[in-house]
Amino acid sequence: MKLFLDTASLADIRWASQAGLVDGITTNPTLLAKSAGDVDPNDVLKEICSLVDGPVSAEVVAVDADGMYREAKELAKIADNIVVKIPMIEEGLPVVRRLTTDGIKVNVTLAFSSVQCLIAAKAGATYVSPFLGRLDDVGQEGMEVIRETRLIFDNYDIETEILAASIRHPRHVAEAAMLGADVATMPTEVMKKLLLHPLTDRGLDQFLNDWSKLAARSKVNV
Ligand code: G3P
Repeated sequence: MKLFLDTASLADIRWASQAGLVDGITTNPTLLAKSAGDVDPNDVLKEICSLVDGPVSAEVVAVDADGMYREAKELAKIADNIVVKIPMIEEGLPVVRRLTTDGIKVNVTLAFSSVQCLIAAKAGATYVSPFLGRLDDVGQEGMEVIRETRLIFDNYDIETEILAASIRHPRHVAEAAMLGADVATMPTEVMKKLLLHPLTDRGLDQFLNDWSKLAARSKVNV
């Protein structure tokens, strides 16, 4: 499974790409608003695109078809690895089709059901992003959307990639991977948590402790 970082923080992206952990980046207007400060968000996106080889999702903010298409074309000019995020709304679907025909990759975002994912794929999306955490937040089982979508896409050899989004903790990553999501995008805090286990820390403490006892004994022997 590919791992994407869901952030517009350049420092976080540098850390993850130096560690070889990141296959791509997803951003959204909220994340860019948080990270860009006074900087033009398109300049932030340009910098992100230069830091990673993989796809970088950037979202339109228009909600009418012409506006979405215009913004998408501008975003696509930023770099070759830009993937345009289009929201899962009726007006967006013809835009997905048009952009795909133009050779621009699209990530259909804000998907909350497997049939929305199917529709996004029919429109030609390269990626579709079901939001797991936000479904869990309202008492629904976010992971069910991944399970159903994987089954549907496999039944019909649909190539659109399932990009598990709104990931809140390492179990989301493990479960999405077991269910066959193609990509999981997560905040930096979650990616860092993937590296951790308390028994790793405890084991290392014990090894170092035992080693220092041996070192102390050897000194005495000498
Ligand atoms: O970028 C889309 C998605 O991952 C947002 O996640 O945590 O705001 O629901 P969250």
